[in-house]
Amino acid sequence: MKFLLTAGPTREAIDPVRYISNRSSGKMGYAIAEAAIAAGHEVILISGPVCLPPPSGVQLVKVTTADEMYAAVHEQITSVDIAILAAAVADFKPAQVSTQKLKKHEGIPEIRLVPTRDILASLGAIAARHFLLVGFAAETENIAANAVNKLIRKGCDIIIANDVSNSEIGFESDENAVTLYSRDADNIVIPRAKKSDMARALIRIFCDLIKNR
Ligand code: CTP
Repeated sequence: MKFLLTAGPTREAIDPVRYISNRSSGKMGYAIAEAAIAAGHEVILISGPVCLPPPSGVQLVKVTTADEMYAAVHEQITSVDIAILAAAVADFKPAQVSTQKLKKHEGIPEIRLVPTRDILASLGAIAARHFLLVGFAAETENIAANAVNKLIRKGCDIIIANDVSNSEIGFESDENAVTLYSRDADNIVIPRAKKSDMARALIRIFCDLIKNR
């Protein structure tokens, strides 16, 4: 099967030296890419800036901004069986990017932010789509309610929710614990595990879901 994955953060420039970004090491997305390759699948990995080597065998598309990630995803989506959006895309970007470095002595700048495009929701809005659409929900409270709300609002088939208020798992950690929410199947809980083991479990679940569609 052909997998499309997004991973890592995006960066939205303020000026040539400063940017807005999100906490994301890319570890979960890269672990899923690696597990998919190991299981014999084809993988397009669309990645924001991370400090991880790409798993060998993936087709790596490097991007920086949310707009670049959006364009890369839409360029590749027609040929894939499953899209897993694990990237921590910036939700806002500066309305204007200064071409010169903002100087401190000129005072504290007021930066107007505008929303970026929601990549997951844009895929969820595709009518009669041919691929399984999986999103992530990094939540700090009301995990189940927020995850189900995101599943419906963004039109995806599965939302993988994790509790990022627990500092031992999730962001930058090698471990994670997640629950999968879907529209028409029971929730699936994957208890705390190494991200590599979790990725293997996720690949098995996704492949079963695709086969039984
Ligand atoms: N996502 C995306 N494009 C964006 C923002 C988010 O594709 N511009 C995707 C993420 O990759 C993830 C999912 O949407 O799969 C959920 O992201 P999250 O940041 O948790 O959701 P938000 O839209 O920011 O919602 P909220 O602010 O209510 O948590």
